[in-house]
Amino acid sequence: MKDEARVIQLPKILDKRGNLSFIESDTHIPFEIKRAYWIYDVPGGEIRGGHAYKKLNELIVALSGSFDIILDDGNGEKKYSLNRSYYGLFVPKMYWRRVENFSTNSLCLILASDYYNESDYIRDFEKFKELANDEK
Ligand code: TYD
Repeated sequence: MKDEARVIQLPKILDKRGNLSFIESDTHIPFEIKRAYWIYDVPGGEIRGGHAYKKLNELIVALSGSFDIILDDGNGEKKYSLNRSYYGLFVPKMYWRRVENFSTNSLCLILASDYYNESDYIRDFEKFKELANDEK
């Protein structure tokens, strides 16, 4: 069965000295982490993403600030707003995504199930919809 996108609540260790959260491969997220990257210094009004992956699974975390993630699995869009560092949005393969409405100084961490591979990207939305419908 196809994996569904969902918000995952991460552990949060409350402490007077400052709080701590963590993520372990295969424990809190349903994949092994092979790569981390982050998006920062986003000028006001800019949009990142605008593509899907054939195989890659990701977890997106708003480590600082806030932003919106718009997902489309081929059947319409759904918006997720992230604004806490202890929530992650699990985005399985074959979801078209864009990230927008970044707050000033926001920091977007992405944990990915594989190394960077341009041939895993689908950058044409019409092609994505065709492939998404073929998978059903
Ligand atoms: P891209 O994934 O298209 O950005 P966005 O997150 O906005 O969709 O990546 C932008 C550029 O960075 C592209 O030229 C590929 C490069 N890149 C890497 O070299 N390694 C990586 O892990 C990532 C995510 C991107």
